[in-house]
Formats: sequence, structure tokens, C-alpha cells
Amino acid sequence: MINLDRRQILKWLKTDDSAELEMLWKAADETRHINVGDEIHLRGLIELSNFCCRSCAYCGINQTNANIEFYRMSKEDVVECIRKIHDFGYGTVVFQSGEDFGITAEWMSDIIKYVKNNTNLAVTLSLGERRYDELKMWKESGADRYLLRFETSDLELYRRIHSALPCADPKRDRIAIIQELKKLGYETGSGVMVGIPGQTYETLAQDIWLFAELELDMIGIGPYIPHPDTPLGREYQKMQQLPSSSPSLSPANQVPNTELMTYKTIALTRLLCPKTNIPSTTALATMNKVSGRGLGLMRGANIIMPNVTQTKYRQKYTIYPNKASTHDNAEISDKHIQELIKSIGRKKGTGQGSSRKY
Ligand code: 5AD
Repeated sequence: MINLDRRQILKWLKTDDSAELEMLWKAADETRHINVGDEIHLRGLIELSNFCCRSCAYCGINQTNANIEFYRMSKEDVVECIRKIHDFGYGTVVFQSGEDFGITAEWMSDIIKYVKNNTNLAVTLSLGERRYDELKMWKESGADRYLLRFETSDLELYRRIHSALPCADPKRDRIAIIQELKKLGYETGSGVMVGIPGQTYETLAQDIWLFAELELDMIGIGPYIPHPDTPLGREYQKMQQLPSSSPSLSPANQVPNTELMTYKTIALTRLLCPKTNIPSTTALATMNKVSGRGLGLMRGANIIMPNVTQTKYRQKYTIYPNKASTHDNAEISDKHIQELIKSIGRKKGTGQGSSRKY
């Protein structure tokens, strides 16, 4: 078994020795098997809206991006997606959107109550940094889980890439909101992007350490994928062209935004947080459309979040370019995922697939 302290996490993140990495994959897969079993739990993802009041430097549904068409789903379309999730036999519905205050607390509450009154699905929300009273109301309406990635534990880097709102309380940062969510009784998830320009190995090691300190129920990890219509995507392109020209953006120990680095982060997270639910993310599937998702599942992950959003909307939810399954419909996404689960010798999860802490 591999024991991990911060220094060793750093060592693993930096190794490229293939024999050592095989050991890491094996240890992560065994730890996954022992602690969360062979079931892969499916969470049907509904991308409610791509309106966002922020302008984060990395994200393609940044409100300053003039090249996107904005949408907010109708209640009827949301209900159609919920029915599909139920019919496909998934255990959870995940409502995700940009930070859209056009999604009112009451509207969301009604949807949560609809799910709870008509299905056995767990409800996960991923709606950004909403007010405490809204988070509380949604919990009271029946929501079970909330996802809010802290993106990076380096506060300086975070400030550079994430736009603050003028009226926001600076003390109520994402870590503070994660603590609120836990107190409200949500199963709480967070996560990071791997290879953000300016992210060092030390920071990524600290991110993994912070996952354990926060005792998260879910941890989403995906590679940073540059979007050409964003400030960070443009800086990334420049950085690629002139590798040593911008020391502030490209420190010597810059973490690469690669598939391999993402697998290492997933595997180390599994070792440090053995019972947590870890998805093999769409960003990983986007980097390697053939085997990214499968390899994530074989190196520590135990969750997939199939997209069930109607095709007409999902094409507009471009948080990064060439997102996997953008042109598929829910039936095709579901078929691919069933085939994948079979091909790697695992089982489709039954029930809600709650965190082992609950
Ligand atoms: N590349 C990869 N992941 C991204 N996200 C947003 N933009 C990008 C990007 N360009 C991730 C963030 C966010 C989640 C919903 O999507 O981590 O929390």
C-alpha cells in the first residue's frame, strides 16, 4: 500500500516513471474496489442554463463571451430530462448551470420538490455561489447534495482567474460556502482543474491535501481545457507559442494540463480519500474521446455523469471547446456508457449511490 504525506504527493505528481505509475494505478484501483466497490453510479446531468453573472477567465460561458447564445431551459424540458433519468435507471439527477440569478430560489425549489414527489432520485445541485438563504431553502425542499469546486487552493491564482462580484462578502469564499453546505446537511462535493496556467505542482499537491481536510463526499477533477474565447485561453495560446516569454504565467514548475496529470490527481485523491465519490469527468473524456473516461474509472474513479440535456441546449453549454457528447442525445450517451461499464468489467450502480459517510 502507498502511504501519502504532502511530500510524497508531490513526488508522485512529478514522476514519469512508467513502472512507478503502474503501481499508483494499481493501488488506486484496489483502494476504490475495497472502499466503494465495483458499482459505477450514474448521475444524470441537466445543464439548466448558460447565463452566468461572472466572467471567470477560464470558462467559456463567461458573460463577456460574445460568441455564445444564451439559454435557460423551460420547466417542461427539465421535466422531460428528469423522466429520462428515471427511465434509464440512474440514481441521481444533477442540476448544473452558470451562476444565473434568473434561476430563482422558488423556481429551483419547485423542481426539487417535483423530483422528490415523483421519483426516488437523489438531487444534486451545482449552481455556483448562491446565497445562504437559497442553499437553505433548497435543502429544505429536499436537495441532497451540492457541488462547488474550489478550482485551486492557491488564493492568488484563484483571484486571478475567478471574477468577484462587486457586492459580495469577501470572507464568503468558496471554502466558506463549502463549510456552510456541510453544516446545512448537504453531501458536499468540490474539485479542481488540473493544469491551470500558473498552477504549480506544490499547489496541486496542496489541492489534494485540502480535499482530505475538507472531508468531501464528492471530488471532481478534470484537466483545464483552454477556451479560445476567454482571457485565460488566449494567454494559454500565447504561452504555447512563446514558452519562456511569460514567467509569471508559466513558472518553471507549471503543472501541465494533460490527461496523465489528471489520472495522477484522481489516483492520489482516491488514496487519500478512499471512500469519496469520484467521477471520471467529461473534461477527461474530452481530452481522450476513446479511452479517457474508462482510464479514469480504472485509476480511482467510481462515478459517471451522463449528460441528458436536450441536444439543442447542450451545444450552447460550452464551458470548454469540443466537449465530449455535445452532439449526442441522452439515449446515445446512455448507450455508450452502458457499453463502457461492461467493457471494463464493472457494474451499473443501483440505488442513489450516496456518500459512504451517510
Ligand atoms: N476547462 C476545464 N474545466 C472547466 N470548467 C470550467 N471551465 C473549464 C475549462 N476551460 C470546470 C470548472 C467548473 C466546472 C463546472 O467546469 O472546474 O467548476
